[in-house]
Amino acid sequence: MELSISATWWGTCTVNTHKAAAPLPRIQIQLLRSQVSDVLQSACIKTGVYQCDISSLRQIEETIASCASIFPPIRGVIQCAMNLHDSTFENTTAENWQAVIAPQVQGSWNLHSCLPHDMAFFIMLASFVGITGNCGQANYAAANAYQDALALHRRARGQAATSIDLG
Ligand SMILES: NC(=O)c1ccc[n+]([C@@H]2O[C@H](COP(=O)([O-])OP(=O)(O)OC[C@H]3O[C@@H](n4cnc5c(N)ncnc54)[C@H](OP(=O)(O)O)[C@@H]3O)[C@@H](O)[C@H]2O)c1
Repeated sequence: MELSISATWWGTCTVNTHKAAAPLPRIQIQLLRSQVSDVLQSACIKTGVYQCDISSLRQIEETIASCASIFPPIRGVIQCAMNLHDSTFENTTAENWQAVIAPQVQGSWNLHSCLPHDMAFFIMLASFVGITGNCGQANYAAANAYQDALALHRRARGQAATSIDLG
């Protein structure tokens, strides 16, 4: 997939570096920074890699504040965070339900609430499971349906939003 970004846009996306209880070793963060930089710096794009649990309002606010001191205003976001804990609805625990809901529901809402209102893009990678449902994935279906609804909510307010229901 080819992604074109205007030089004045600044995007952020979630990567697998969020778990506060088990943070990535510093060397892995540095490796990720260097890999991202290598790809983008040749196009004169300044990059940054931050560790953040997007379901935590405090962590999102702190991360955005850190970015604000280094980068221009944030112009877009691609929200890719998810957790899967498949099981039949009867066997789903509250913890497993919440673990799936947190990144896509609380996480997407936190991004919606904390990032600038006039961004050029707000893209959520969701799933068609939010429309069709899937055996053993009631929690994931709910999380994806929420992202579709959040996109409609933002658009109704005149804000950019796209929820892509991947297959
Ligand atoms: N891959 C597919 O076939 C497919 C199909 C349909 C839809 N999608 C959608 O596409 C998106 C990305 O899918 P993927 O296959 O790339 O998933 P993935 O490989 O499992 O990546 C999801 C990432 O989200 C991170 N994450 C989870 N909770 C987070 C949180 N609270 N804060 C920050 N990061 C968090 C995970 O980190 P940890 O690993 O550290 O937990 C992981 O790196 C998802 O929204 C999914 O619904 C994918």
